[in-house]
Amino acid sequence: MFILAVCLAIAGCERAVPEPDAPDETPVLSPPVLPDPPFAYSALEFPDAWLEDPALQLFGGFGADLEVTDAGATLGRVLFYDPQLSIDGTVSCATCHQQARAFSDPVAQSTGVSGNPTHRNAMALFNFRYQRRMFWDLNTVGLENQVLQPIEHPDEMAMDLAALPAHLADIPYYPALFEAAFGDEEVTLESVQSALAQFLLTFQSYSARFDAGLENDFAGFTASELLGKDLFFNGQTRCNQCHSGKNLFSTQPFINGLEVDYAAAGDAGVGALSGDPFDDGRFKTVSLRNIGLTAPYMHDGRFATLREVVDFYSDGIQPHPFLDERLGENGFGSPGQAPYQLNLTEVEREALVDFLRTFDDTVMVSAEWLSNPF
Ligand code: HEC
Ligand code: HEC
Repeated sequence: MFILAVCLAIAGCERAVPEPDAPDETPVLSPPVLPDPPFAYSALEFPDAWLEDPALQLFGGFGADLEVTDAGATLGRVLFYDPQLSIDGTVSCATCHQQARAFSDPVAQSTGVSGNPTHRNAMALFNFRYQRRMFWDLNTVGLENQVLQPIEHPDEMAMDLAALPAHLADIPYYPALFEAAFGDEEVTLESVQSALAQFLLTFQSYSARFDAGLENDFAGFTASELLGKDLFFNGQTRCNQCHSGKNLFSTQPFINGLEVDYAAAGDAGVGALSGDPFDDGRFKTVSLRNIGLTAPYMHDGRFATLREVVDFYSDGIQPHPFLDERLGENGFGSPGQAPYQLNLTEVEREALVDFLRTFDDTVMVSAEWLSNPF
């Protein structure tokens, strides 16, 4: 009113009347629906058979040893599903990490707030007790050091981290959740980090048909699945020499021969960080648990189906100068051998695919305590 009055008094200043501030377009979310008392996240544990696995006893010390509390993971659940953590209120972690897909994304490259595709395939998320290094090129050590990166990344959630605590403190449901989790309603980046990491640690995957099979000598497996199992574990395909132990992964990155020259193809993985040709195309040897749910496959999502993956390992491996020897003609020995040519039969290819699907979890992907609370 005052500005308008002043303007009327000054000739020709109509155009100088300031525009009203743009209305806040952030959609207002209803508060999350949470159980009281909270879910018993702190009681979730891997079965004894896992903890006794010698490989996991070795790897056990590799993962986050953060203590999970019921209120901490509850807060993490809300943060994980809340699009208010992104600059325009449209993207949450779950946009690219969907529970029904073992927390991966069904597209090769995901899109966040910018609309630009991510440069790699969104990874499935589970069993972080046993993983220390994060991302396809393993560039980050420790889950807590990972979780703020997507919030800040311009193509993912593009949030200014310096502004995040105050932004969250203004949302009515957060102060009480922070108070319950950390005894203080003040929002800090450290508490956001801890809560997200605690929730991610509760993504535990050990309930697949394969696990039941280990207990009952694979009763109920079809003839095709049994043939696939033999192929997976036999020394000819050598699948289990890299995708090994209960997690069917390796803590080491390997070169599996997708390209002759990864740098020239646009993504050298670990090689882009080290600059060493020996690392060209070295990528995280991800777990094969839930593999039937996490298509498309590889760091760039180049294979749409498991059948394409099996066809690749059968006779499509490229002659990379440092191809891992497990994929070479003679196996263990020197790296950089000519790729093996399995030339699997049609029946064997389908059998391997059928067996890989027995790694799919039956609990984690629909567990209510991991679902969207909004
Ligand atoms: C726009 C899509 C997108 C969003 C949103 C997103 N991520 Fe991711 N996430 C990815 C992609 C792509 C990768 C792999 C990136 C790479 O390796 O270069 C990844 C990798 C990860 C990893 C590494 C897993 C491993 O096995 O190494 C974790 C953990 C993770 N994301 C957690 C989160 C969390 C927590 C959030 C929310 C705060 C989040 N992500 C939001 C796309 C996304
Ligand atoms: C030398 C170690 C090694 C061997 C042997 C190996 N893999 Fe892999 N595997 C990898 C690595 C490393 C990746 C990730 C490569 C990338 O994305 O660039 C991978 C990726 C995969 C993927 C895709 C995972 C995803 O989430 O996208 C599948 C499926 C797979 N391997 C199945 C198999 C099967 C089946 C065999 C046996 C025929 C096998 N692997 C043998 C190292 C190996």
